[in-house]
Amino acid sequence: MAKAKSSPTKALGIDIGGSGMKAAPVDLATGEFLKKRLRIATPQPATPQAMVATIEELVDHFGWTGPIGCAFPGVVRSNVIETAANLDPSWVGVNAAKLFGDATNCKVTMANDADVAGIAEMAFGAGKGHKGVVMMVTLGTGIGTAMFTNGTLVPNTELGHLMMDGVEAEDVASARAREDGDLSWAEWAPKLDSYLDEIHRLLWPELFIIGGGVSAKFEKYAPLLSVPTKVVPAELKNHAGIVGAAMLCG
Ligand code: BGC
Repeated sequence: MAKAKSSPTKALGIDIGGSGMKAAPVDLATGEFLKKRLRIATPQPATPQAMVATIEELVDHFGWTGPIGCAFPGVVRSNVIETAANLDPSWVGVNAAKLFGDATNCKVTMANDADVAGIAEMAFGAGKGHKGVVMMVTLGTGIGTAMFTNGTLVPNTELGHLMMDGVEAEDVASARAREDGDLSWAEWAPKLDSYLDEIHRLLWPELFIIGGGVSAKFEKYAPLLSVPTKVVPAELKNHAGIVGAAMLCG
């Protein structure tokens, strides 16, 4: 009788962002990094060709030959990139798992960045054991969302593109919008609050988990939020994308 194939115990997680590409090998049972993470700036323009070279650099750095899970900042269905709002538009239609897999000789699995960050938070972080509807909101170059009901993900929710007063929410309430507009935390908090309120009005989650770099500064804006939903910071902080990406291989 053929031996059942066992699932991997570790995988390389790669988190692709608009400004940086970050990777670390991850223990899939604990969510811990097995080596110090490496970040390389995202090449500009962020074309598939340019970025595949960075993926090779990350994989070579760790001498990695095992499975790779990769988080992408756009809609991903069956490993194919469907949108790339903050990267080069030539990504649309590319099977990124095949592109990266052929370049590295590793088995690659792709998913949306906010979705995988949410998967990691639900397994090891602020969403652990949470029943009901949980909404992870990642605030970075764009706004990513991941919605869970009883721990099950509805993939590719793109609520960062909700329109608020005729403008996309991610152009108003993302971390990038705060930096570009040189906004203080007190100036930015009401914008984030209105955005969370809009999601509350439409989807009624029981918990918001705030991810991205600003999750580490939660105390600066959390007291200024009035949305009638519990809001907590991501516990894995900026590591959630790498951990969740690796978990795609489990
Ligand atoms: C993209 C999402 C992504 C988010 C965060 C948005 O612009 O459309 O797919 O999750 O940015 O990177």
